[in-house]
Amino acid sequence: MTSPKKLFIKTYGCQMNVYDSERMAEALKGYEQTDTPDDADMILLNTCHIREKAAEKVYSELGRYKPLKEARPDLKIGVAGCVAQAEGAEIMRRQPMVDLVVGPQSYHRLPELEAKASAGEKALDTDFPIDDKFEHLAARPKAARGPTAFLTVQEGCDKFCAFCVVPYTRGAEVSRPVARILTEARDLVARGVREITLLGQNVNAYHGLGETGAEATLAQLIWQLDKIDGLERIRFTTSHPNDMTDDLIEAHGTCAKLMPYLHLPVQSGSDRILKRMNRSHTRDSYLRLIERIRAARPDILISGDFIVGFPEESDQDFADTMDLIREVNYGQAFSFKYSPRPGTPAAERPEVEPALADARLQELQALIAQQQKTIQDSMVGRELDVLFEKPGKLEGQMMGKTGYLHAVHVKDCPLPRGAMARVRIVQSVRNSLAGELITA
Ligand code: 5AD
Ligand code: SF4
Repeated sequence: MTSPKKLFIKTYGCQMNVYDSERMAEALKGYEQTDTPDDADMILLNTCHIREKAAEKVYSELGRYKPLKEARPDLKIGVAGCVAQAEGAEIMRRQPMVDLVVGPQSYHRLPELEAKASAGEKALDTDFPIDDKFEHLAARPKAARGPTAFLTVQEGCDKFCAFCVVPYTRGAEVSRPVARILTEARDLVARGVREITLLGQNVNAYHGLGETGAEATLAQLIWQLDKIDGLERIRFTTSHPNDMTDDLIEAHGTCAKLMPYLHLPVQSGSDRILKRMNRSHTRDSYLRLIERIRAARPDILISGDFIVGFPEESDQDFADTMDLIREVNYGQAFSFKYSPRPGTPAAERPEVEPALADARLQELQALIAQQQKTIQDSMVGRELDVLFEKPGKLEGQMMGKTGYLHAVHVKDCPLPRGAMARVRIVQSVRNSLAGELITA
């Protein structure tokens, strides 16, 4: 038997890319994963297009592999993900050592593309086929896995926020059928997974084919997952405020497996800017929504995304954002300085002075950090369920997460990965909590 070839995947960007990378590794039978490019037979970059100069960064990363390719001409180099989608054949023109380019909607064609690349041909696929790519990916080996997993249920976006490339790189909204998601979830649970995070660029716009033949909402899907024995926790990300349906809000109050954490990006607190961003919600509609969600689940931890320095953002617009943050009180948030993405409407507009945008970003991040710390500190003294994920840095220590997604370290912890236990939170340190097992 020939020994398997080695595959090195480098993953950039969001959790969906992490999920896609796992699926690609499984689809490439005959390869086993390695964590260094040095001995790899294939290097695959799973790229992200959301941050600034994304394509340029990919080209410079590719440049770094040039000596490897020169030393071993049989080494195959592939580019996947959103930069592959956006750049297409241009990648092979600019970097001829690239053998394979595959867009996010074509991963089921990866085995064919790999065969083509191995035969010395250039392999490219950036189509948007209408079929479910995951359905066509090879059946997954039943290897055991860690206690948490991602599961993509929806992909793409029809919202066209003026700053965002996702509708162009991931395409139109598509939801996977409920039955396939349930099969995949049961399989994950059989392999040791106890917490599943449902993924989608617009996950709460989910409208997959239900088992009755009608479309199911995300809440209906969650209630189906709730019935799976051994699955203890359900999360989902990322949501759009306009798709927070009543049944989903209600599920936060009634579904015990649905964790009290919601990532609900608002981007700005100014109606003027929200309108220019084409967000199709207002400051007020967002705030009222948060109120309704908190009425259903008072302890829910809210997280968000913010963009500062969007074209034409005035001091007043920024003050409105800061004010909204004070009103919501975030447990966590991701904030970015606006940067133009070629091909998006906002890229044509005059930019805010970079130094001003930097100053605003710092101010906003300081406020968020303060809120985050206050909320984390407020966990001290509480008794919470912790799902243990892996050993901590210290001998005998285990690290797990609470339902609010705070990391908790427990000293001298006899429990294995995947165990769920009641923990008393005793201290709040920089980026985590310290806890003690509560023994009956
Ligand atoms: N500039 C800055 N931030 C952006 N995001 C998306 N596009 C841009 C851009 N052009 C941010 C948004 C989004 C998150 C994933 O990335 O806040 O919610
Ligand atoms: Fe991008 Fe999210 Fe807006 Fe869709 S809803 S365009 S993914 S920011």
